[in-house]
Amino acid sequence: MLPRSRAVANPDDVLRFGAVLGDYSAKFGRAVLVSWLGGEPLRWKPAFDVSRVFRVEFGLRVSATTNGTALESESVRRCVAEDFDPLTVSVDGVGPGHDRWRRTTGLYAQLEKNVRRLGELKLERGRSPRLRVNTILMRDNIHDFESLCRAVAGWGADELTFNALGGRDRPEFYAEHCLRPEDVAQFRQSLPGVRERMARLGLTILGSERYLDRLEAFARGEALPVADCRPGQTFLFVDERGMVSPCSYTVEGYGAPLDELRTADDVHRLPERFAASRRAMLAPCFDCPSTQVFGKFAHCETAK
Ligand SMILES: C[S@@+](CC[C@H](N)C(=O)[O-])C[C@H]1O[C@@H](n2cnc3c(N)ncnc32)[C@H](O)[C@@H]1O
Ligand code: SF4
Repeated sequence: MLPRSRAVANPDDVLRFGAVLGDYSAKFGRAVLVSWLGGEPLRWKPAFDVSRVFRVEFGLRVSATTNGTALESESVRRCVAEDFDPLTVSVDGVGPGHDRWRRTTGLYAQLEKNVRRLGELKLERGRSPRLRVNTILMRDNIHDFESLCRAVAGWGADELTFNALGGRDRPEFYAEHCLRPEDVAQFRQSLPGVRERMARLGLTILGSERYLDRLEAFARGEALPVADCRPGQTFLFVDERGMVSPCSYTVEGYGAPLDELRTADDVHRLPERFAASRRAMLAPCFDCPSTQVFGKFAHCETAK
């Protein structure tokens, strides 16, 4: 695993905002999904208690994206099965490929074992969680995409999402491994066939046509500005320091402190507040990197 600096969210602040989101959900009749991203969210000790309160007391849905190491513990698997839906695990390659990217021998085998165990738990319970895999596409692994899908379908994964390697953390790594236009073109051409074959194995590959346009533009180095991303209407990003923003790229600029969001109405007014801020478009908006805006999570038939 790669060493990174850590800042940690305050559980009391998180619980307080969870209660506000619960009120918002009830008052405005909107289902709210809280997704823990991390760092490594299943290594954040309060994650399990907080998630239980979110689901049971506040009526929120909860999910997480994980490297899967914490799933080694049976009690963690039981908590996840009870409170999380979907659970997303990150798989960057098949077998040694995954271990190489994450610089940890045995990680892939451990992940496979634990996802299969979660699948068994799911069968036993006759319900959730939906098991989702997220993979990073790089020039080095994109041509093995179908093998990766086939492997995780065999583990019992229900859904798969993908994103292109981003360059924010490690620009030098990005330069060597990012997708080239020919990689995306080939991927795009093969995707409908892969989707069809994986559907027969029970694996749904998410992502819209527009999302593929986004990947293509990244690879070509062409900017894709977004005139109106409907900020705050369907998605909020909350960072570990307690700032709420329309996406992870605009915390500085559009972010509002959690302290200012005390009631359901405060949350309801956020889209208006963000839309007003966004009249002064920030640099990222001229080449929007936010995958959810382009349909990363969309079912391919419904989102063009
Ligand atoms: C930042 S990770 C955090 C969650 C958790 N630690 C994990 O490994 O899944 C969230 C997702 O972003 C993906 N990711 C990590 N680094 C990335 C990068 N440089 N570009 C694009 N996606 C990346 C991961 O594969 C993972 O699915
Ligand atoms: S970067 Fe994208 S998602 Fe974020 S505020 Fe700008 S247009 Fe919206």
